[in-house]
Amino acid sequence: MSDSAQKQGDAFENLLHEERRFPPTDEFAANAVAQPSLYEEASSQGSEFWAAQARNLLTWDTDFTQTLDWSDAPFAKWFVGGKVNAAYNALDRHVAAGLGDRVAIHFEGEPGDTRTITYAELTEEVKKASNAFESLGVAKGDRVAVYLPMIPEAVITMLACARIGAVHSVVFGGFSAEALRSRIDDAEAKLVVTSDGTYRRGKPSALKPAVDGALGREGHTVSSVVVVKRNGEPVEWTEGRDLWWHDVVDSASPEHTAEAHDSEHPLFILYTSGTTGKPKGILHTTGGYLTQTAFTHKNTFDLRPETDVFWCTADIGWVTGHSYVTYAPLINGATQLMYEGTPDTPHQGRWWELVEKYKVSILYTAPTAIRTFMKWGRDIPQKFDLSSIRVLGSVGEPINPEAWMWYREVIGGSKAPIVDTWWQTETGAHMIAPMPGVTATKPGSAQVAVPGISIDVVDELGESVPNGSGGYLVIREPWPAMLRGIWGDPERFKETYWSRFDNMYFAGDGAKKDEDGDIWLLGRVDDVMNISGHRLSTTEIESALVSHPSVAEAAVVGAADETTGEAVVAFVILRGSAKDDDDIVTTLRNHVGKEIGPIAKPRNILVVPELPKTRSGKIMRRLLKDVAEGREAGDSSTLADNTVMQQIAASLRK
Ligand code: WT7
Repeated sequence: MSDSAQKQGDAFENLLHEERRFPPTDEFAANAVAQPSLYEEASSQGSEFWAAQARNLLTWDTDFTQTLDWSDAPFAKWFVGGKVNAAYNALDRHVAAGLGDRVAIHFEGEPGDTRTITYAELTEEVKKASNAFESLGVAKGDRVAVYLPMIPEAVITMLACARIGAVHSVVFGGFSAEALRSRIDDAEAKLVVTSDGTYRRGKPSALKPAVDGALGREGHTVSSVVVVKRNGEPVEWTEGRDLWWHDVVDSASPEHTAEAHDSEHPLFILYTSGTTGKPKGILHTTGGYLTQTAFTHKNTFDLRPETDVFWCTADIGWVTGHSYVTYAPLINGATQLMYEGTPDTPHQGRWWELVEKYKVSILYTAPTAIRTFMKWGRDIPQKFDLSSIRVLGSVGEPINPEAWMWYREVIGGSKAPIVDTWWQTETGAHMIAPMPGVTATKPGSAQVAVPGISIDVVDELGESVPNGSGGYLVIREPWPAMLRGIWGDPERFKETYWSRFDNMYFAGDGAKKDEDGDIWLLGRVDDVMNISGHRLSTTEIESALVSHPSVAEAAVVGAADETTGEAVVAFVILRGSAKDDDDIVTTLRNHVGKEIGPIAKPRNILVVPELPKTRSGKIMRRLLKDVAEGREAGDSSTLADNTVMQQIAASLRK
């Protein structure tokens, strides 16, 4: 195991002796959607278990003839020969079943404006958008970049793409023009859908300038930009390229027949950070992805679509927003809340006010948010009626037991089960999670594989470790929602996930099995950081830093942070002529913001005379992490120059 994984493992050691258990109440267990028999069915049926789920959860236009084709591993084909339309399954079929008046989305905008959208209305909007996009020349297989805030048009755009077979590539609105440009180019997008802007903490905030920046040059592939008017601020306009959403979509025909697409037809690309500087375009396809997202949404959250109000707080710019805002809730015919704003505007009780107002019954959020609420104090949520909550979900990073207990007591009224869900952009859907009516939960552990999923923890050689030991998290069998590749780079797909161990998917996470065999996630073992549940690559930020003329060399580490889990800390060596002062730190932070986006701005930038390197020139991040976390630096005997750590310490004391 790598140094950092070992250290994290040690830090978590005491957790493995967690004695607290929270079994479901008898009443919850008796009525739960997922019963113990689900595990039995999954283990006795193998991949046929997923065939049953696919037929049960989705309406297929043409049934599939083969459940899994793994003959070209690691390139999987699920539900071979089947034809299915994602938007039809999310929309039309519910309307046809008489559920048109059910609320699909309760939208709450940041300024407090609201929209209630029924399944019938959402279906009509998606049909119009489908017609509009087709009239702009977007055809099956074309890529559409989506750069939108959390407004209903984001979901409408994604579903319209899915309906016509276009492949959406959503780029988080917090990414910069530069990041947007590289994603548009990599996917060769034909259309961009954006908005004039959004609202952030009570003020209008612009989005379109980033699109203009990304497209302000020759040679890109984009022919049209559709712009939603959201905040009404003035925007620059490129005639012949830019079109208002209200001009092209509102006037489009509300009639549109969904064509069924092959089960393996690409549904979307979503870029995520890897260990190199270049983000990877993770490719997901249709039948398997929809099956596993719908299955997990229903079973992990104990969903009752007739009565529940589901709220996933993730932005659609991340995979959580794709799977558990756009797709699964609608496939399952659920009612959900969508919120545009931040948790502290206009006040720190905003989320709890929304829970009370909409009677949210299932809340799905990230540990970083929970830790922020802990800091603000329990008296804030306690001012609101949270009694509607019956299931709580956690995602994105390990949840520390303290935050878990607070979540349970303060938000869940000491009765709602907590489901800690481990998964990744690449896995598409939950992979490790308790079933709320079956599993006796443990604060801090994601615990058990989802029924039908094969998880293990292995050592350096790929051997399964015994209970009580740690190692690398792997997935042993193909799963329906697995990524089908990296856009345009099949070799990188094999190399990144399938070369570390034979015939196993390497997730990049360290993990331990406790005495009961329950799994505890210990964080990444590669150069990927997790900041507030968002994935960032150390190399990507280093590349951004060295692209600045004042920087000669840079090394980035993720340092433990009480609120955000990890925080970005950068060590830079300046070029001869550059001055080490406050200005340079501000300049470099802003430069990273411009190159990648505000989320990537380092918390600290430390100017140093040297970086610790081994004789082969590899930067020893472990030592920098010690410095960043305020510890005495560990063993530096393998450094090429072992005075470097003293030089760094001396320069930081100044
Ligand atoms: C990485 C994937 C899954 C959607 C959001 C993040 C970490 C995710 C957990 C969890 C511990 C977790 C892992 C993983 N992670 N969920 N419940 N417990 N760690 O998706 O950006 O693709 O990041 O997030 O390190 O590899 P992502």
